[in-house]
Amino acid sequence: MTDKEFDQHHYVSFSYFLERACGIVLGDNKQYLVRSRLAPLIKQFSCASINAYIDSVIKGNQQHQAAAIEAMTTNETLWFRDDYPFKLLENPILSQFSSKNKPFRIWSAACSSGQEAYSIAMTILNFKKQHSNSFRAGIEIVGTDISEEMLQRCRTAEYDQLAISRGLPEQFKSDFFEPADNTKLRLKSHVKALANFKSINLLESYSSLGKFEIIFCRNVLIYFSPEVKKQILQKIAACLQDGGILFLGASESISGLTNKFDMLRCDPGLYYLKKPL
Ligand SMILES: C[S@@+](CC[C@H](N)C(=O)[O-])C[C@H]1O[C@@H](n2cnc3c(N)ncnc32)[C@H](O)[C@@H]1O
Repeated sequence: MTDKEFDQHHYVSFSYFLERACGIVLGDNKQYLVRSRLAPLIKQFSCASINAYIDSVIKGNQQHQAAAIEAMTTNETLWFRDDYPFKLLENPILSQFSSKNKPFRIWSAACSSGQEAYSIAMTILNFKKQHSNSFRAGIEIVGTDISEEMLQRCRTAEYDQLAISRGLPEQFKSDFFEPADNTKLRLKSHVKALANFKSINLLESYSSLGKFEIIFCRNVLIYFSPEVKKQILQKIAACLQDGGILFLGASESISGLTNKFDMLRCDPGLYYLKKPL
C-alpha cells in the first residue's frame, strides 16, 4: 500500500478517534504503525483501502471500531516484570496487610494477557506457604483490560513456550503450572481461582470495581496525554483504600500529575502510598 492511498486527513481522523475511544495518542508520525496494524483488518472485512476502513470507523461501524482498538493496543508483557514490585510485595508489603479481617484486594489495571495478575497471585501463594495464618479473610485479584482478546487469554490461563520463557523462574513453573497440551502450560486451578478478569476502559468509570489495598497500573499511562493521565490517577486514588499502594511502570511517574500520593523510594524500586484525606 502506498502513502498516497493513506492520506493525512484519514490519519488525523483516525488518531482523533483512537484518542477519544481509548486514550492512546499516536502523535504525528505513526502512519506506518497504523498501516501495518490495520492491514489485516482491511483484508478481514473486505474493505477497498485503508481510507475506506477508516471512513467506516469514523461513521460509527462498531465492529470495525472494536477491531481497530484491539489492533492498536500494545499488549507486551512478561512474568514478574521489573522484578522489584514482586520483591517488595514479598517483603515488606504483604505482611502489612496479612492480618486484616477483610478480603485483601489487588487490581492489575491494563493486565494484558494476565502475566502481571498471575505473578501477583504466585507471590501471594508463596507468602502464604510461609505464613499459614495470613489473609484468612480471603484474597481477590482483579485483572482488567480494554482488549477482549487479552481478557480471553487471561481467563484461559494457558501460555505457550515463548510466553513461559519470558521472566518465569523455574521454581514457579514447576510449582504453579501443569501441561495443557504438547505446546502449552496452564496455571493450576488454585492460582487461577485467585483472579477475576473484567473489561474496563481506563477512560471510563471504575467505581463498580470497589476499593483495593494495592493497584498495579503499569506500562499503560505512557500511551496517554498528560490530561488523561491526571484523570486516571485521580480515579485510581479514589479506588484505593486509605494507606493503599500504587505501582506504576519503571519508566512512569506521577510527577506534575497528582498530589494524592507520597512516593516511597526502596532499594531497588519505588511505589506510591495514597495520602490520608
Ligand atoms: C503494554 S501492556 C501492559 C501490561 C502489564 N500491565 C505490564 O506492565 O506488563 C498495555 C495494556 O494496556 C491496555 N490498554 C490500552 N489502553 C487501554 C485503556 N484505555 N483501558 C484499559 N486498558 C488499556 C492494552 O490492551 C494492553 O494490554
